[in-house]
Amino acid sequence: MFSNIPSTIMKKSTLTPKVFAELNRQLNHELSAAHAYQALSIWCAARNFTGFASFFATQAGEEREHAAKMIEHLLDRGATPALDALPAPQGAHASLLDIALHAQAMEVANTRGIHAVYEAALAAKDYPIQVLMHWFINEQVEEEAWCAAMVDRVKSASCAGSLADLDRHIVRLLAGD
Ligand code: FEO
Repeated sequence: MFSNIPSTIMKKSTLTPKVFAELNRQLNHELSAAHAYQALSIWCAARNFTGFASFFATQAGEEREHAAKMIEHLLDRGATPALDALPAPQGAHASLLDIALHAQAMEVANTRGIHAVYEAALAAKDYPIQVLMHWFINEQVEEEAWCAAMVDRVKSASCAGSLADLDRHIVRLLAGD
């Protein structure tokens, strides 16, 4: 949608190379998280965990929205984001607990990435990106909270029946996190 803009009307970017590199890395990370959540959704759907499948499909959409916020910011600042090839997500998982732990590990890593962008913006005194990152820093608190709640709930579901029950209610149970 932006590829038709002639380079002559692009603004000169006000980002430092380091801040650009960090935000561009992070937006690619958000896209790869979307891809990974889609894979978790597929794993769950294939085993009739339709509640978890729906939850992870929604997460995939949210990650794409996160990347879009970063892309829009870069474009607004006169920089052109560069997309990387997406790594293939892990497709094999032993259990629903593995799935929940995988999601949690992804979000912990994502928090580190967001903080790295923020630290670069602090060092460069890039105030607009600092403000942009405030939203993401808060978002990561929520994301890590639902991951922790999901891991706890899956750990407490000790039999197939309780896992099936959890699956029916997981979207509602995690809605507040
Ligand atoms: Fe874009 Fe799951 O954080």
